[in-house]
Amino acid sequence: MEKKEIYKCEVCGKVIEILNPAAPETICCGQSMKLMDPQTTDWTKEKHVPKITIEGNKVTVDVGISMGTPHPMTNEHWIMWIEIMCKDGCYERRFLNSGDEPKATFTVAKPEGLIAREYCNIHGLWISE
Ligand SMILES: [Fe+2]
Repeated sequence: MEKKEIYKCEVCGKVIEILNPAAPETICCGQSMKLMDPQTTDWTKEKHVPKITIEGNKVTVDVGISMGTPHPMTNEHWIMWIEIMCKDGCYERRFLNSGDEPKATFTVAKPEGLIAREYCNIHGLWISE
C-alpha cells in the first residue's frame, strides 16, 4: 500500500484513500477492497483525463470541458472530486456535486510539475498525463 492510493469496495461502493500505508489490506463487506489504478487513456465515450490549465498561480483542472465534451454531472454519473498534487507536497481536493461544472480551480504557489486526478463514480480514477 502507498500513500494517496484509492481503494473501492466492489460490494457497497465505499471509496477510501490511504493516508498511512502501515496497515495491512483493508477489508470491506467481507472482502478485500480493490485498488483503483489511475487511468490516463480515454476508453469510454466521455472524456475523463483531467486537463490542467495554469495561469500564474491559478490552476484550473477540467474534465472534458476544454476538449469540447464536458463530462456528465448527473445524479447517476458525475465527477465526485478533482484534486491536484505538486512536487513541493501540496495536495488539494475539491468535491463536486451533480449539476456542478466538471471543473475546479486552485491557487498554487509553485505549479511546476503539477499532477491532477479525478474520480468518476462509474469509471473510476483518472490522472493527468
Ligand atoms: Fe464517467
